[in-house]
Amino acid sequence: MNEIGVIGLSTMGKNIALNLADHQFKVAVYNRTYTNTKDLLELSHINIKGYEQLEDFVKSISRPRKIMFLIKSGNPIDELIEKIVHHLDEGDILMDGGNSFFEDTGRREKKLKEKNIYYYGVGISGGENGARFGASLMPAGDATIYPLIAPYLEAIAAKKDDDYCVRYIGESGAGHYVKMVHNGIEYADMQLLAEVYLLLKAQQYSNIQIGQLFSDWNKGPLESYLLKISSIIVTERDPYNNAFLVDKISDAAANKGTGKWTSVEAIKLDVDASLISASYYARVFSNKKNDYGTIPKSMKRLELNEIKKAYYLAKIVAFIQGFNLLKEASDRYDFKLKLKDIAHIFKAGCIIQCELLDVIEAALEENSELIESPLIRKLIITHKSELKIVDSSAVLAEVPIVAMSCATSYINQLCARQLGANLIQGQRDYFGAHGFERVDQEGAFHHDWTKR
Ligand code: 6PG
Repeated sequence: MNEIGVIGLSTMGKNIALNLADHQFKVAVYNRTYTNTKDLLELSHINIKGYEQLEDFVKSISRPRKIMFLIKSGNPIDELIEKIVHHLDEGDILMDGGNSFFEDTGRREKKLKEKNIYYYGVGISGGENGARFGASLMPAGDATIYPLIAPYLEAIAAKKDDDYCVRYIGESGAGHYVKMVHNGIEYADMQLLAEVYLLLKAQQYSNIQIGQLFSDWNKGPLESYLLKISSIIVTERDPYNNAFLVDKISDAAANKGTGKWTSVEAIKLDVDASLISASYYARVFSNKKNDYGTIPKSMKRLELNEIKKAYYLAKIVAFIQGFNLLKEASDRYDFKLKLKDIAHIFKAGCIIQCELLDVIEAALEENSELIESPLIRKLIITHKSELKIVDSSAVLAEVPIVAMSCATSYINQLCARQLGANLIQGQRDYFGAHGFERVDQEGAFHHDWTKR
């Protein structure tokens, strides 16, 4: 009998199935349309068996069945559950490996529990390569059955320092929540790299020089998967002519929604994730037509080290905001997240894997509130002048580095002695008698502002 089933054989599902099969698990596969199944079977992997009918697929798996699906999030998942549930038995385990909204996952888990079927939301990051050779995994659901699925998840996980990039995350939807925030940080770092690229272009660096610089930076503390692929992307040649392909790609970024969810969640939980949201908005903005005309302004010459330090610090701010959101969500939703485990999971296999995560993990060891960690505080103090220099030069030259500007503002707020909120409280009290607190006396106060 097969030991595990995979449903949905597009890029992610197909590669997860192959990854499992390479680890000697007997894998049953099923796809809504049989063509994808046939394509996979043509690879003739000895451990993979394909099925045309959903029922045959389910019955071929030994009980309790473990079935992972990687299909489009939203309604298609509810439809699949509706169809498959009739073929399942009590104790079977369904795992959603896509980018589902965490509340949907929680709802589905609750509903299936009534039938004694277990439901796991498994955040998976790493794209095609991760799925095939080692991904970063964020599984959440009923803790008691985790040991039953752990061997499969560990088999397909990436490894860092000889340790799997998978940990049990928590109950109901917590895994998809963590994956959502992972994607928020992903949006932020992608935007920051796009801004570094813009800054370097404004400083007249060629694509070849930018590519070289990125690969040099990638040998030090800035090392990351996204930096590595960016060094390749900026120097790749267009197959249609000898130009650089990146220069031929439309300047409009798409998204599938996880950055938006992160931003909405941050607002909902009163967490400042301004840099992450700015990165989402930057994608939205890139799709709006700009009629203003552009006359490039000359830009003050910046040292490469200034840009490097500015990027490093802005990226730290992205992680601070992402982890602050995770911390708050953990309290509000009772997720009981282990932030250090999450930093570990992100270290390999996923899109945001980077050297900086060692620093984040060490800082979390000092204080779960990242901005309170002495390590982070020191990095902010030692890098902030470069961030300000780069940001102000870009603003004057009208180079739109919105995410870096958010990092500057965030740090300026952190370091400010006064935020001006006293005037806001005065205004609120003036027009709405909302009251205020004083710096020199305890209690709530109201003033009659119109009496003069
Ligand atoms: C990952 C990626 C993956 C996918 C994003 C793309 O971690 O492997 O995040 O899940 O590439 O969903 O998201 P956008 O289309 O929104 O950029």
